[in-house]
Amino acid sequence: MYGKEFEESLKAVAAARDANIAYEPARMTAKEKEDLLAAYHPDYKKSEFRELRVGANKGEALPHELCDMLEAKSRIKAEDIDLDHPTYDVDVLIIGGGGAGSSAAIEADNAGAKVMIVTKLRIGDANTMMAEGGIQAADKPNDSPAIHFLDAYGGGHFAAKRDLLAKLVTSAPDAILWLNKLGVEFDKAPDGTMITTHGGGTSRKRMHAAKDYSGAEIMRTLRDEVLNRGIPVIEFTSAIELILDENGKAAGAVLMNMETKEIMVARAKTVIIATGGAGRMHYQGFPTSNHYGATADGLVLGYRVGAKLLYADTLQYHPTGAAYPQQIFGALVTEKVRSLGAKLVNRDGKVFMHPLETRDVAAASIIRECSDHAEGVDTGDGLAVWLDTPMIEKIGGEGTIEKRIPAMMRMFASFGIDIRKEPILVYPTLHYQNGGLDINVDGETTNVKNLFVAGEAVGGIHGRNRLMGNSLLDIIVFGRSAGKNAAAKAKETEVGKLTLSHIAKFDAERDAAGIETNLVSPKLLPDYARKFN
Ligand code: FUM
Repeated sequence: MYGKEFEESLKAVAAARDANIAYEPARMTAKEKEDLLAAYHPDYKKSEFRELRVGANKGEALPHELCDMLEAKSRIKAEDIDLDHPTYDVDVLIIGGGGAGSSAAIEADNAGAKVMIVTKLRIGDANTMMAEGGIQAADKPNDSPAIHFLDAYGGGHFAAKRDLLAKLVTSAPDAILWLNKLGVEFDKAPDGTMITTHGGGTSRKRMHAAKDYSGAEIMRTLRDEVLNRGIPVIEFTSAIELILDENGKAAGAVLMNMETKEIMVARAKTVIIATGGAGRMHYQGFPTSNHYGATADGLVLGYRVGAKLLYADTLQYHPTGAAYPQQIFGALVTEKVRSLGAKLVNRDGKVFMHPLETRDVAAASIIRECSDHAEGVDTGDGLAVWLDTPMIEKIGGEGTIEKRIPAMMRMFASFGIDIRKEPILVYPTLHYQNGGLDINVDGETTNVKNLFVAGEAVGGIHGRNRLMGNSLLDIIVFGRSAGKNAAAKAKETEVGKLTLSHIAKFDAERDAAGIETNLVSPKLLPDYARKFN
């Protein structure tokens, strides 16, 4: 239910609706996009970045919040940790219980490895669970992995590591079959074929979905599979420091019980970081669509033992975060809403961009509309633009919203907004970490042996901007692959003497750089309470 203050603007949007449905806005030229991004995208706001002073990426400009965590102190003192009597001793240790970690665990288990997941919250408390719109795979006759590659490569500003992206797109059809076989309830036509839609930057309809809770459906299925197999999952337990062996190979992690703070040691032949994203770092003060534990932990853990980061300066601001009402500020409004025909319009009901530009371009367009153009709608918490959802029912017929995006409908209905009849207010929200740890095509970090990474903690698969639906895909493709490869590597690994000597080395580097800090990392949980001190 909107208040009186929105009345005039709502009238303008409704009056323009039919004409806006028929109107096909032009796509921007490459030059227009470049200029727009440089002027309005948060990644280009130099004042929000600073030079990292330690480690493998020393000298690079990264978000200052991330620099603070990468330069922070360890949560432990090496001499306090008893490495000789590990609490757990496994072949493959997986840090993170989301989609990537679960996929890795299933495949490592298939390979006969003794595998264990540790997760600081519960299995499934992850960005996978929050994903809505779908998962891309080129499995229709008019499509191919090559076309999928070109879409993603262009959308990522030609910066993706080509071998990683090639693996992503060529493994995609099999990822869908795997999930389907495990029991994911994809949207299907009566004849059993998968229903697919467009996403921003896709030249073919290749988005497979389970309505608008695709991630929850995938996570439900993976979690059931992990639990049914009896794979041990140590919940409410965070990894706070990686352990290397005397040969410099990853060989486990120091763990901390999140409630009791008890410290434990997990020894492992190989380690997979699958800790997910960083929305709860709230870069540049943005709200986030991410789950509560998304605090860039894996980047910190890997970086401190010497792993390199790739594109950690680039974040994804999802164009359509909920901007009203305040209770759902920053929550994801899936891109599928635009795939189904809803257009973005300003205060006066004017369409100001093509609805399916890539995310960075769409986010920058909205920010422009709400800054010097000042054509946004004042929500009381800042400016926002309309996403004209009633268009969907006009285009697809009555009932389309309830059938295709029921979660959206319910989220807004609980605040008295019927999205079938009224548009919704949106503004970009921090959604995804485009960058992360640098891996080779087997999922192993490029400079720390036996340390694998999968999911959002990886950098380089998507370049400098990810297309919708390629993240649910990468957690499956690279999760499965990391599980298989880490299990194989574990078979040929003899773990040497465990050591935490990297902490002293990192401390010395910090001291040499003259850094004084009382911060400790990984962050583990967001620190909202601070705001009220
Ligand atoms: O808009 C969305 O549903 C988000 C999907 C994604 O990030 O892949």
